[in-house]
Amino acid sequence: MKNELITKFQTRNAHVAVIGLGYVGLPLAVNFAQAGYRVTGIDLDVRKVDAINRGESYIEDIPSAQVAALVATAQHREVAVETLPTGADQASQPAVTGSPRHPVTQSSGHLSATTNYAVLADCDAVSICVPTPLNKTGDPDLSFIVAATEAIARYLHPGLVIVLESTTYPGTTTEVMLPRLEGNPQSLQVGEDFFLAFSPERVDPGRTDWTTHNTPKVIGGVTPACLEVASTFYSAAIETLVPVSSPDVAEMVKLLENTFRSVNIGLANELLLMCDKLGLDAWEVIEAAATKPFGFMKFTPGPGLGGHCIPIDPHYLSWKLRTLKYNARFIELASEINTEMPRYWTQKVQDVLNNAGKAVKGSRILVLGVAYKKNVSDMRESPALDIIHLLEEKGAQVLYHDPHVPAFRHEGMEMVSVSDLDTALKLVDCVVVATDHAAYDWTHIADKAALVVDTRHVL
Ligand SMILES: NC(=O)c1ccc[n+]([C@@H]2O[C@H](COP(=O)([O-])OP(=O)(O)OC[C@H]3O[C@@H](n4cnc5c(N)ncnc54)[C@H](O)[C@@H]3O)[C@@H](O)[C@H]2O)c1
Repeated sequence: MKNELITKFQTRNAHVAVIGLGYVGLPLAVNFAQAGYRVTGIDLDVRKVDAINRGESYIEDIPSAQVAALVATAQHREVAVETLPTGADQASQPAVTGSPRHPVTQSSGHLSATTNYAVLADCDAVSICVPTPLNKTGDPDLSFIVAATEAIARYLHPGLVIVLESTTYPGTTTEVMLPRLEGNPQSLQVGEDFFLAFSPERVDPGRTDWTTHNTPKVIGGVTPACLEVASTFYSAAIETLVPVSSPDVAEMVKLLENTFRSVNIGLANELLLMCDKLGLDAWEVIEAAATKPFGFMKFTPGPGLGGHCIPIDPHYLSWKLRTLKYNARFIELASEINTEMPRYWTQKVQDVLNNAGKAVKGSRILVLGVAYKKNVSDMRESPALDIIHLLEEKGAQVLYHDPHVPAFRHEGMEMVSVSDLDTALKLVDCVVVATDHAAYDWTHIADKAALVVDTRHVL
């Protein structure tokens, strides 16, 4: 079974499914299709499924033309493909990169999408890219992973490789997924009949130098055979794979990466609070420290954390540790500091208005950027929303402008971006720079605005 599957991946005669066609799943599906696999994306969101089948992308990093080319109806063509050596346990090797190219005949029309899980009955591989949010009490919500796993279990068949990509706590693949798959009526065995692995996504939306294809990817299999089969599957689309000894290690690697960022951003934010008390410029301190050629990595203060990963993922780890009666102190502390930053910046607005003899109440305030980071439209967990909310609570009349977000609805707030930035700049009492989009001309903004609070240090 194992060798048969490996040959299918090497010759690109594999049918691959991707469950969850969001920021992670769509780029992955496109990469698999570009590598020569026949790919079916599965999503519950009919609008996404219909968009893909029309050849349209809804993710900024993926041009519609790319999707359209892959969705176009079948025509035979020659593609050059890369194959991975089929050696035994690759966990002992530091990194695996693709090797000899050989041509195979494949048909185009590689990408399609559906809401129907039944397609899995015909698939050789499936990657799971569903959300892993926190629930209302701040604990991990694995319901999306469980739903996807149960759906896969219904169509489990000999010769299926399953790879979880969603960020989650160590033990999810082996403790949550595996029992649901192994409890199948046919008694199919992991590592023999089907193969299970974890490989965390590292995509950084808006980035063009490091993409799904060329960012090294960690991968850990439940058994050595699982690792081997899953690595062969992925090596068609990913330049460099980094095998590790288990899915638990791979799960922990992802959480270390995101916790590392959360803690260091927390430190940079606390540096700002400390420098404030000392009357020092935190950015001057950081820039000077960053001239050290070794042993220092630059992180900067800002409005707080945003996006799906950094504010949320470390809590998966601290939750898991709490079940083992351990308190992950760095995670909790960083989260506390980062979460307080919108309140700090709101206070700054109050201070600058006060210095100009004005109150927040009744003042008109323009927030520049509501996306959680520059040059994207993603607003998930965006600290700009907290700043808007806090200012409104204090009685300010808040407007926003964002070239990437024409309008939004969030927890009872419904806003439309101002259309004429220049007029708005002149009209308002204070401007808050919340997102440092490249489209902004900062010199012009500084020139036109009466008062500015700059959370990104761009002015
Ligand atoms: N966005 C990032 O930058 C990023 C980076 C690295 C890792 N991750 C992780 O990847 C995972 C996915 O994140 P995302 O940003 O792509 O999320 P997303 O919300 O953009 O996409 C998830 C998709 O899954 C679909 N979905 C939900 N339940 C489903 C089900 N049962 N069956 C089929 N489809 C279903 C949703 O409709 C949605 O389209 C998360 O665990 C996240 O932490 C995200």
